[in-house]
Amino acid sequence: MIGRLNHVAIVVPDLAAAASVYRDALGAKVSAPVALPTHGVTTVFVELPNTKIELLHPLGDKSPIARFLADHPSGGMHHVCYEVDDIYAARDKLKAGGARVIGDGEPKIGAHEKPVLFLHPKDFCGTLVELQQA
Ligand code: CO
Repeated sequence: MIGRLNHVAIVVPDLAAAASVYRDALGAKVSAPVALPTHGVTTVFVELPNTKIELLHPLGDKSPIARFLADHPSGGMHHVCYEVDDIYAARDKLKAGGARVIGDGEPKIGAHEKPVLFLHPKDFCGTLVELQQA
C-alpha cells in the first residue's frame, strides 16, 4: 500500500544551526526557512536525491511540536511520511485493521498542499507515521 518515502521530519531547537549542519557539514541543498502558521511550524526543506528531510521548529503558542521539543531539547526524529495513492482507501483499510488515526480521522491539507493524516506511533513500531496523497 505505501509507496515512496516523501520525507523524514526532524524537530530541532535551532533552525539556523540545523540548516547549517545539512548544508555545510553534509553538503545538501537547503531552503530558506518557510513559516507555516496553520501548521504551527517553521520548516527548512532539505532536498536529497531520493527524498526530503524537513527540519521543523515550533511557531506560535499552539504548535503541535512544542511538547516534543520540550521532551527532546536537543531535537529528534519526529515522523516519517509515506505516499499513498488513495488516502481515504488507505485510512479505511488501516482503521479496519485496528490502527488509530490521530485527530478526527479526516485528511488535512499538509505542507505540500496535499491531503495528509497521521497514524498513532503505538500502532507503527513506535514511529509517528504521516500518510500523504501521492
Ligand atoms: Co511531515
